[in-house]
Amino acid sequence: MGIIEAKNIRKSFGKEQVLKDISIEVGKSEYLAIVGPSGSGKSTLLHILGCMDTQDSGELLFDGQNIKRLSNRQIAAIRNKKCGFVFQFFYLEPHLTIAENLEIPLFLSKLTKEERKNRVKAVAAAVGVEKLLNKFPRQLSGGEQQRAAIGRAIVNCPKVLFLDEPTGNLDSVNTARIMNLLKTLQTKYKFTIIMITHDLSIAKLADRVINIKDGRVC
Ligand SMILES: Nc1ncnc2c1ncn2[C@@H]1O[C@H](COP(=O)(O)OP(=O)(O)O)[C@@H](O)[C@H]1O
Ligand SMILES: [Mg+2]
Repeated sequence: MGIIEAKNIRKSFGKEQVLKDISIEVGKSEYLAIVGPSGSGKSTLLHILGCMDTQDSGELLFDGQNIKRLSNRQIAAIRNKKCGFVFQFFYLEPHLTIAENLEIPLFLSKLTKEERKNRVKAVAAAVGVEKLLNKFPRQLSGGEQQRAAIGRAIVNCPKVLFLDEPTGNLDSVNTARIMNLLKTLQTKYKFTIIMITHDLSIAKLADRVINIKDGRVC
């Protein structure tokens, strides 16, 4: 059984049907890339697969659980414990240090203060920001900020890491570094990766690529 099984997913915003009839299955520890033109529904699909938004019809099984049968509280727990998110513009908290940013998701866990500190240190080392922990996001380069954002996304040991155009704001050198980092982290932590990208040279690094066009898989 896959970690995510989506069947006949439809989603409209007003009169516009954005996702028309999408069925996909994503395997445990699979690395999936989603490509397609701007406006084709990629981000909308990612939000639904990551339990950040809900479909109008169709079924989503996340790690064997039918999302429709769960309360909002249960869905939030899945999002917090099993999902990590990385976006194009990083979204680090500007008034917090990198260490504090990395610690944020851990406040939803039952870890002690010392356990949180140790977890932050370990993840910072894994993503290569261990020397930047006392700095603020604005003092980091784009590539460094994205490393920190990836650290924050994986600090809770998610089962699925969702990335929406993670290198859209980076130069080619930093793009290659982030892609290498993702591979290394996946080998180490065995999470599933679902990554949207418009860069086909990046998509090629995934185990599988799916194409979304006009709200359908093609
Ligand atoms: N929250 C929303 N409210 C209204 N329309 C939206 C919303 N999110 C996305 N859309 C619309 O859905 C379509 C697909 O958007 P999106 O999923 O962001 O595409 P992509 O990520 O492939 O560029 C676009 O026409 C967009 O304007
Ligand atoms: Mg998008």
